[in-house]
Amino acid sequence: MQAKFPPFDVKSPQAIREQLEKLLPVSHFFVYEQVTKLGQEMDIPALLVGGIVRDLLLGRQNLDLDFVTLSFSHPLAEQLLEYFEEQPGLTEIKLLKHDAFGTARLDVAFLDGTKLHIDLATARYEHYSQPGALPTVDIDPPSTLEEDLKRRDFTINALALSPTEGLVDPYGGLEDLREGWLRILHPRSFIDDPTRLVRGCRFAARFGYKFDPDTEKHLREAVSGLGKLTAERRRNELTLILAEVAPDRGMQILNKYDLLSQIHPLLKWDSEVEQDFLRIKQGEHKVRPYERFVIYLATLCAHLLPVQAEKVVTELRYSHEAAKIPPQVSRLKHEVLPKLNTQLANSQLYALLHEFDPEALEIAAILAPDKAPLLRHYLDKVTPLKPQLGGDYLKELGLKPGKQFKRILDQLRDSVLDGKLVSREAEAAFLQKLAKDILD
Ligand code: CTP
Repeated sequence: MQAKFPPFDVKSPQAIREQLEKLLPVSHFFVYEQVTKLGQEMDIPALLVGGIVRDLLLGRQNLDLDFVTLSFSHPLAEQLLEYFEEQPGLTEIKLLKHDAFGTARLDVAFLDGTKLHIDLATARYEHYSQPGALPTVDIDPPSTLEEDLKRRDFTINALALSPTEGLVDPYGGLEDLREGWLRILHPRSFIDDPTRLVRGCRFAARFGYKFDPDTEKHLREAVSGLGKLTAERRRNELTLILAEVAPDRGMQILNKYDLLSQIHPLLKWDSEVEQDFLRIKQGEHKVRPYERFVIYLATLCAHLLPVQAEKVVTELRYSHEAAKIPPQVSRLKHEVLPKLNTQLANSQLYALLHEFDPEALEIAAILAPDKAPLLRHYLDKVTPLKPQLGGDYLKELGLKPGKQFKRILDQLRDSVLDGKLVSREAEAAFLQKLAKDILD
């Protein structure tokens, strides 16, 4: 017999409360209780909605406290602000309100360092003036809960938790969760909001779900809409899917529906890229703390020429921090690694590798196991070697900064790297001789 899913009564507010208490950290549960209690007292019912409800049913932790309120959310947000300000265990309480959208966001920090935010969104209708445009929001008057849920992406995300009635599920989200279906709520969903094409692939990859046949048909018809979105919106979706636990599965599904090339026409997925994703999955922990998506973006870009990699990150408007690594990995793979061999002296390794960030070198080491020992040697043994003397000492010897000055310092560094100078005295003697030759 199949286990009951979920293993608690979804119509019992008490059972739901217990699940929340089990899955949420104490701070989040405390905040949840205050929001729903005050909401009831003020007759502004506040229901948890979206991903956190889906994940609660799946028994997964989700810390996004997203509430929908059945009348204008701001009075509740203001009361919560007052209440939290009186609590001795809370600090840094901030409230941000958006009048036209009827949304409010409260940021709170606990004395133990936990930070969290609470989103309160007035139940709304949304209209799309044209495909892919951002929606126009209508909260005056607030919509019904059913209307608010209907504007959402998939049935599994169109669920709400009422503190008095338990699960609210007008579109069969629980059944789809149980059966593993991704189902849109109306035929125009992907046309209105093409980011949902990628979101769908992301959920399919994360949960191992499938698009229901009708949804899949609409998805295939809407594919070209993704390429028409702004670069920022395409980039955000790519970043999210690359940051998932199994980005390879996400890429596979995106590619299956020709969506990867809609994100950027140069991006491609084939068995070689897949192999590299699997290599990285095994070794990503070795790359110094860096946002995971950058590592996978670099892996995608390693299969493009350096100019193409540069084009992808620039055109998708990645931040400087994220954009610098992928083209470096491409250059390493295509231009530099082929030149590496065990005959090279440390100074020659330095000449080839010093301009690259350590993260790019770590990624290259995972992607090219045959070159990994040399890259490891460079990272672990060569980069810590530094001359003890420098420009100041040269100035003391009477030299002025300039081209020759720099050449001498380069010679000093190379000699230290190659183990020819192993003490401060040896470095001093080396510099004195070179300086003398110039000054004489
Ligand atoms: N949503 C939507 N269409 C979008 C984005 C969001 O309908 N393009 C709705 C969904 O109901 C979603 C909720 O807004 O559940 C919150 O969005 P978000 O936080 O982006 O998604 P989650 O479902 O929480 O997914 P994740 O677990 O990846 O955070």
